[in-house]
Amino acid sequence: MAEVTTDADLVARRARLLGPAYRLFYDEPFHPVRGEGVWLYDAAGTPWLDAYNNVACVGHAQPRVVEAIARQAAVLNTHTRYLHDGILDYAERLLATMPSELGHATFTCTGSEANDLALRIAGAHTGGTGLVVTRWAYHGVTSALACASPSLGQYVRIGDHVRLVDAPAGGDIDTGRRFADGVRAAVADLRAHGLKPAALLVDTVFSSDGVFTGPPGFLAEAVAAIREAGGVFIADEVQPGFGRTGEAFWGFQRHGVVPDIATLGKPMGNGHPVAGLAVRPEVMRAFGQASRYFNTFGGNPVSMAAASAVLDVIQEERLQRNALEVGRYLRERLAALAGRHALVGEVRGAGLFVGLELVTDRATRAPATAQAARVVNGLRRRQVLLSATGPDAHVLKIRPPLVFRREHADLLVARLDEVLAGIG
Ligand SMILES: Cc1ncc(COP(=O)(O)O)c(C=O)c1O
Repeated sequence: MAEVTTDADLVARRARLLGPAYRLFYDEPFHPVRGEGVWLYDAAGTPWLDAYNNVACVGHAQPRVVEAIARQAAVLNTHTRYLHDGILDYAERLLATMPSELGHATFTCTGSEANDLALRIAGAHTGGTGLVVTRWAYHGVTSALACASPSLGQYVRIGDHVRLVDAPAGGDIDTGRRFADGVRAAVADLRAHGLKPAALLVDTVFSSDGVFTGPPGFLAEAVAAIREAGGVFIADEVQPGFGRTGEAFWGFQRHGVVPDIATLGKPMGNGHPVAGLAVRPEVMRAFGQASRYFNTFGGNPVSMAAASAVLDVIQEERLQRNALEVGRYLRERLAALAGRHALVGEVRGAGLFVGLELVTDRATRAPATAQAARVVNGLRRRQVLLSATGPDAHVLKIRPPLVFRREHADLLVARLDEVLAGIG
């Protein structure tokens, strides 16, 4: 009889082969074997509602993207030191979604590489090294980014050239001023230590900080502040980009600002590893003159075919509009749960990037950290996948594929209602 491999066997094998740095989600790890649209399936064929994976933005195993990858892989896959029209066609299409000031596109394989390169470009342009990020930011895995990603936890040493500012919480009219005050104080402290500011780098939906999206426009004063100090503004669009916020194709557009550099990733290839940057030509100049850029896999013909197919689907299926409408509907339904469950605090977000704060006391907004973990695991037991974010891990992070429809939102809310009732 064939030996049966259980999930417990896989967990042990992972620990042995992959070592201690990897982490799994959920008390009871989840083991999908197939994906389609908003669904992931386990080996028994049970569908699980995916309310978490923004990478598969046009849906898991989207046939047009799969076909585009297979077609191009069967013809040619080389690198950017040969001429190929695929990278140019995609660069043209990508830049057409951006404000005209962002005139150059550069391609990488991951969001981390994009952010790392953005820091080098910012350094070359400004002559500075000082970097301002939010207090619970995450920007990537390289050394330059890990030391500017406090959400990685206690083992990461924040760089001497990095200053942390409070995320723009509050959602009131003064949010932008408070955030800009933080940036100005960070700049002053950099200067006091003899460091020249190079950049303000923020995720424009502040996902790891706990999802802060309002009021639109709050970023503008901070962007002006970093520019006054001689630095550039890098919009990390790895999370909000490609229509997810519904109100705009790019997160920075909700704030009425044009970044000096925008960095892109996750949803760009629907799971194929493609990422990149859009840069103002005048900001790119110093780096381009001093260095050459080559990335073995970045911008290869297969990646460009994948990314192009993703844009096709987003545009033809009007997924930005879907994100706007279904996201609004979902937030309304989540807010209605507050009437029945004392744990429900603020519902935040834009489009299909939603943060649901869980609190033990609405007046003090005390974080319901343990309860949030129970909710995440309770939903997992009811075949709904999501996670929690923020420094206290008490904000449910709901960030499904953009093909998430009202009926999926209804299912999510019904299951959440049950789980919250169980927690009391
Ligand atoms: C805001 C943000 N920036 C950058 C990254 C890094 O992207 P990657 O994992 O593709 O290197 C992430 C990944 O989670 C992210 O959330």
